Amino acid sequence: MYGIEVLVSEHDNILRFLDIVQKACIKILDTKEVDVEFFEESIGFVRNYADKIHHGKEEEFLFKYMQENLGELGKNLIDHGMLVEHDLARYNVMMLEQSTKKYKEEKSSENMLDIITYAMAYRDLLTRHIDKENRVVYTYAEKTLDKTLLDMVTEKTKKYEAENKAEIQGYIKTLEKFENIYK
Ligand SMILES: [Fe+2]
Ligand SMILES: [Fe+2]
Repeated sequence: MYGIEVLVSEHDNILRFLDIVQKACIKILDTKEVDVEFFEESIGFVRNYADKIHHGKEEEFLFKYMQENLGELGKNLIDHGMLVEHDLARYNVMMLEQSTKKYKEEKSSENMLDIITYAMAYRDLLTRHIDKENRVVYTYAEKTLDKTLLDMVTEKTKKYEAENKAEIQGYIKTLEKFENIYK
């Protein structure tokens, strides 16, 4: 189903980004310095690509239909599983932003450790979250949602992609740039 295929390919891009995050954290340990520009740009990437574009589509299209049409089980899976994790991810990014700001003011080991802590917490959370969605949540949706609803997810996804094409491509370019820096 096209709507889900798009979400899975966005997961692949987010996983590529999470590998870069790990490399950037290892670099901090090796050099005892933080690449502030990378972390600032990463926060923008996460908030826009991973959260607004990807989580936004999940929450407004697929998950919405699951909450409304799959009874208590569907509602619980989304409300108490997926949405809670989206909020935890937002918390980790907020803390990463605060830590980066603090590091700019004071280049201390404590502030460096906070950056590593929240960046790696985000990485761990999103890796597990993506695995759960790919293996359990999306599969469950494809098996149990009415075909009409799945078709509506696809339709809305295509419309979203057409309206935001340039922005989405811009984030893929950012990802490629990050990969060139952290090979
Ligand atoms: Fe999600
Ligand atoms: Fe997702």
